[in-house]
Amino acid sequence: MTSPASDYFFDAYNREEIAYGMEPSAALQAYLEQLGGADGQVGDRPIGRAVDLGAGAGRDSIALAAAGYDVISVDLSDRGLARINERAAEHHVAERIRTNLCDVREFDFPENHFDAVIATTVLDHIPALDAQIVWQRMCDSLTDNGMLYVQVHTTEDPGSDVAPGNTRQVPVSETAGAVINYFRPNQLAAWAVAAESRLRILRYEERLEWDYTHGPEHQHGKAILLAVREGFHPDWFGQPAAFPKQS
Ligand SMILES: C[S@@+](CC[C@H](N)C(=O)[O-])C[C@H]1O[C@@H](n2cnc3c(N)ncnc32)[C@H](O)[C@@H]1O
Repeated sequence: MTSPASDYFFDAYNREEIAYGMEPSAALQAYLEQLGGADGQVGDRPIGRAVDLGAGAGRDSIALAAAGYDVISVDLSDRGLARINERAAEHHVAERIRTNLCDVREFDFPENHFDAVIATTVLDHIPALDAQIVWQRMCDSLTDNGMLYVQVHTTEDPGSDVAPGNTRQVPVSETAGAVINYFRPNQLAAWAVAAESRLRILRYEERLEWDYTHGPEHQHGKAILLAVREGFHPDWFGQPAAFPKQS
C-alpha cells in the first residue's frame, strides 16, 4: 500500500475533479469506436484482453472495458487504482477491470497474450534503459491481432531539461517532476519500426498540446503512437471511418 507521501500522484487523484478527466486518449478512442462497429471481434477473434500500464485514475481503462476488453489496470498509485474501481462501478464495467498495484518494470507480461497494450505517459516516467526493456516486453505480449497505444512526453515539452523544450516560455505541468525520460524527436517512431518490435504503425504524431485536465493550464510536447501487430490489417480501421462509402 502506498501512502500520500510516497505517491507522487496522490493529490492529483484525490481531488473531486480527478486529474486527466474522463475523456480517453483521442486516438485510442477512435480505434475503439471502430471496434464497436466490428461485431465485438478484432479480426477473427473476440475483443479479448487489455493491459493499461500507468493507468492513473483510469480514463483509458474505463473506455477499454466499455468497448468489451477485460482490462488489467497497472499503476504505482493505489489512490489512482481506488478511483478506477469507483469509476468502473459507476460505469457498470467493474467486472471487466482488475487493478494491480505494481511497477510496470515488475509486471509479468505473458507472450502473445494481450489484444491491447496501452501505455499513456508511463514509459517517460521510468529511466530510459528500463523503458526500452518494458517496451520490448509490451511488444512481445501482443497477440497477432493486437493493438498497441503509447503516449510519451518529448523534448519539445516545456518541462524538458534539453532543447527545444527548455527554451520555451510556456507554463509547465504541475506533475512534470515525475517525468524523467523525455523522448527525442522520432525516438518512439524508431522503436516502433525496429524489426524486433513486429509492429505496423497506424498513426504516429509528434505535437504540442494545451492541457486543461489538471492544475493550472499548461502545455505538453507529446509523441503518440497507435500500432498493430505486423501482418494484421483490419479493414475497418482508418479510411472507412474518415472517408465512408457513400450509399
Ligand atoms: C501522467 S500519469 C498518466 C495516467 C493515465 N495513463 C492517464 O493518461 O490518465 C502517469 C501515471 O504513471 C504511473 N507510474 C509512474 N511510474 C510508474 C511505474 N514505474 N509503474 C507503474 N506506474 C507508474 C503514475 O503513478 C501515474 O498514475
